Amino acid sequence: MASFTRIEESENASITINPSHKIAKVDDNIYGGFTEHMGRCIYGGIYEPGNSLSDENGFRKDVIEAFKDLNVPVVRYPGGNFVATYHWLDGVGPRDQRPSRPELAWIGTESNEFGTDEFMKWCEVVGTEPYLCLNFGTGTLDEALGWLEYCNSDRDTYYANLRRKNGREKPYNVKYWALGNECWGPWQVAQMTKEDYAKQAYQWAKALKLLDPSIVLILCGETGYSSWDYYVLNQCVTWNVHGLGGDRTKSLIDMHSIHIYTADNEHLPNATAPRAAERAIQMTSALIDLARIENKVPETVPRPTICFDEWNVWDPVRAPGEQGAEEKYTLSDALAVTVFLNGFIRQAKDMGMANIAQSVNVISPLMTTKDGLIKQTIWWPLWLFSKYMRGHTVALNVRAPEYLGRTNPNWVRGTIETPFLDCSATIGEDGYVNLAVANVSEEKDFEVDLTGVKADKVEVFTVGGDSVDVVNTAGEQKVGIKESTWDGKGRFTFGKHSFTLLRWKSV
Ligand code: AHR
Repeated sequence: MASFTRIEESENASITINPSHKIAKVDDNIYGGFTEHMGRCIYGGIYEPGNSLSDENGFRKDVIEAFKDLNVPVVRYPGGNFVATYHWLDGVGPRDQRPSRPELAWIGTESNEFGTDEFMKWCEVVGTEPYLCLNFGTGTLDEALGWLEYCNSDRDTYYANLRRKNGREKPYNVKYWALGNECWGPWQVAQMTKEDYAKQAYQWAKALKLLDPSIVLILCGETGYSSWDYYVLNQCVTWNVHGLGGDRTKSLIDMHSIHIYTADNEHLPNATAPRAAERAIQMTSALIDLARIENKVPETVPRPTICFDEWNVWDPVRAPGEQGAEEKYTLSDALAVTVFLNGFIRQAKDMGMANIAQSVNVISPLMTTKDGLIKQTIWWPLWLFSKYMRGHTVALNVRAPEYLGRTNPNWVRGTIETPFLDCSATIGEDGYVNLAVANVSEEKDFEVDLTGVKADKVEVFTVGGDSVDVVNTAGEQKVGIKESTWDGKGRFTFGKHSFTLLRWKSV
């Protein structure tokens, strides 16, 4: 949570931080990832048998190390749009008997060489939790129940035994399950109306929870500010479901998913575009309250959180999905990613999970080549946030000038502020205060009074570059992290077009 006071360019900017004013716990799952059968994400990304950088499972070891380094707590799979024609049974069992299928989301061919057991194994090696998305396109409820049984059951039943036959005795205990992906989208195989989706999601949710009441179910929302979001939440938030073992203390769905990609060719509309994501979180939060009020859900029933399971900078015209969506990220995009992440921290109260889309090669911070990895510009703010911006979000007031030009989407202007200094702060379990500041101005360094910094040694991490257009390539890493210290005295200067993370031990 942060408040903003707009000042004139001629006035002194200031940031006031109250580390003892904890607002909400930051859920570690906001640093989640996403791997879809799309472009070079799975094949050639996390899985590349035959490459000398891969292990005996065909998993790229350098990618595994990067995921560990990023400390990714949860990874969504197998789509995305891909999932709308995915039959999980095609991807289990002996590899030479798995069928190849036409793939309709990205117009390719799916070999099914990599499937459920490979993904589960990969998650175990990485040390991350799987999050599976169900096929609401061509899939059936029987298939979905079979997949849940295959993954989670320890009973002597058909699909649990099929898992054992395929070499895995213990259940995988997959906790997170999504009720479809972007079912509202015209690009979707078997696109649905909100009425049809809500009916199906409700019935599937009930059956899935009867089979395994321990799972966390994620409803398919849209942007968080649409009539789809309102309607499906209203129909599915109900807690009073006959058959759930008479347990009236639980709700049917546990999270509501939203997706937003932003992009603009001009720097300031690009860097401030993720303010739309923060406004979307606020609106989704209100819709969750509204659905609970209208359904008379008792306050003792846990309130669904928001699962922002696709977010990033992406222009699908610049980097088309059918061509693998290999976006090249600039410093401007790194600042946009910082603004997204700041928003997740500020809105921590509502955020149950977020998954950058995607984690390897496809609109990703991490790119593989045959002989190594490229860390794109956006990797660095993501890495710093994941390493330090955990714990509790704390109260913050920012006095700074505001960017008042064109925004993308245009409704950002008038619904949420777009300060030149976009900030969030946390206090970690280790007692360190972490202050994240994106200076999105292309021209101006800001000398800022930092009230609340009570330390004579402040660690400083800066992500910047010569211009907002610089990119990282295999040959040259123009954007990375510079480390320094500050004695906590006087004003601190946040350089133009940079992201700075300040860290000090709270006294
Ligand atoms: O992440 C790329 C695609 O964007 C996903 O498959 C889809 O869900 C979204 O439209």
